[in-house]
Amino acid sequence: MPQGQSSTREIPETGLIPKHIAIIMDGNGRWARKRMLPRVAGHQQGVETVRGVIKACIERNIEFLTLFAFSSENWRRPADEISFLMQLFVGALEQEINKLHENGIRFKVIGDLSKFEPKIIEFIHKGEQLTANNTRLTFTVAANYGGRWDIMQAMRKMMAQSTGELPLSFEEENLTQYLSMNYAPEPDLFIRTGGECRVSNFLLWQLAYTELYFTKKLWPDFDEHELELAIQSYQQRERRFGRTSEQLQVALSAKR
Ligand code: IPE
Ligand code: IPE
Ligand code: MG
Repeated sequence: MPQGQSSTREIPETGLIPKHIAIIMDGNGRWARKRMLPRVAGHQQGVETVRGVIKACIERNIEFLTLFAFSSENWRRPADEISFLMQLFVGALEQEINKLHENGIRFKVIGDLSKFEPKIIEFIHKGEQLTANNTRLTFTVAANYGGRWDIMQAMRKMMAQSTGELPLSFEEENLTQYLSMNYAPEPDLFIRTGGECRVSNFLLWQLAYTELYFTKKLWPDFDEHELELAIQSYQQRERRFGRTSEQLQVALSAKR
């Protein structure tokens, strides 16, 4: 399926390996509390999990990995936790960006960056530019991201650039080119750790036909084996996109 094209229109290539995995990394606070540690210790440990998951994705030839790091709703948290999370993000980026580049990883950030300090924005842009031509894995961090924000900002851009066109004639594709993940196919597999069974305003548009996987494992405990379990679960799904099982079999044998 070409980048940005809607999965609801065409049968995407079904492969055994998901091309794009999107993850809500949840449960850091509970992980820390269980150990009588401050919540932020869970966030710190969560960064180690991110390292492991990136490595495991590369080893499995996953092309896109998208992680939800900070939601537009997370500003409602205590100020000291927010500032810790920001520092952790910038610190990890400073430390890892060269390593990401050496490993052929393209780094991207999606979300409303206008609330971040100019220094952080500049750093993000530098990282994106440095790694722009890498092709091994596209690693996206969603920071101050909200699915509704994304659809709204896309809508505003689309309307602003649509001189003469009637909004009524707009198609899905007119909008999707302005979504912040317009460079990636829609996620095949969504994972949420921490036991909650909700999407929490993550990639609302793109998750329309994504296979959902929820695990009680807390993010700091999510390791390569846990990722493997999620992929195995994905491999057992039949992705019908509204069609019947029989239609899929016919399409499959025609391709062979
Ligand atoms: C996820 O862990 C990390 C962020 C939202 C930044 P939480 O901090 O939500 O952990 P729990 O859900 O309180 O355990
Ligand atoms: C979702 O986690 C956002 C991120 C992981 C960044 P939360 O823990 O904030 O989600 P809710 O508020 O419990 O749904
Ligand atoms: Mg949480």
